Amino acid sequence: MNNEIVEKSVPWLVVLTLLVISVGGLVEIVPLFFQHSTTEPVEGVKPYDPLRLTGRDIYIREGCYLCHSQMIRPFRAETERYGHYSVAGEFVYDHPFQWGSKRTGPDLARVGGRYSDVWQRAHLLNPRDVVPESNMPAFFWLDRPVKEADKATIQAKMRALRVVGVPYTDTEISEAPAALEGKSELDALVAYLQGLGTAIKSAK
Ligand code: HEC
Repeated sequence: MNNEIVEKSVPWLVVLTLLVISVGGLVEIVPLFFQHSTTEPVEGVKPYDPLRLTGRDIYIREGCYLCHSQMIRPFRAETERYGHYSVAGEFVYDHPFQWGSKRTGPDLARVGGRYSDVWQRAHLLNPRDVVPESNMPAFFWLDRPVKEADKATIQAKMRALRVVGVPYTDTEISEAPAALEGKSELDALVAYLQGLGTAIKSAK
């Protein structure tokens, strides 16, 4: 079949274009499901404990991802500022991942350990107290106990995550509600932030 037939016949053009895209797509996508570097956790990456898991949901609830990405690209400008670029194996327990692309604020992929807990708490309650020029909103309501509803659903959440491959044990699930007793939403969110990206030490 020569080019002319394909280019003049719309049905053939459509069929062959789809064929090329499908085969090309499969060749690019399918190997990712079998590569260790994309499916195995990086050494040191652990499933979120109940407090951090709750903090992660608060992060999503409050829309932090609307201003913060969690993915450091392998460019010098980024690695000098944020540390080692992100790798797929750091996100195997993230369902859904929080990579994002909007950076009104800095990337948070390796913010864990960059500041003290005290700084993080003060910053969340009123960013201007520690960064005078900040335009991040104040999340002053977070200093309240973790909601009963969140305590009641933590086990179901962990079981659901287990279905998609997060290796929680039965003991971890049965002890989960106790881990949230007496904690505030601020405790949970700070615990989440302080763990971000710590498995791979930042280059700084
Ligand atoms: C409207 C945009 C916006 C939203 C929403 C937002 N932030 Fe920010 N954030 C910023 C900006 C801008 C900065 C840089 C100034 C500063 O440090 O306050 C920042 C800084 C930060 C930093 C310090 C990062 C660093 O490396 O210095 C942390 C941690 C942070 N934000 C966490 C959060 C969390 C958690 C939430 C959700 C509860 C959130 N932010 C919501 C805009 C935002």
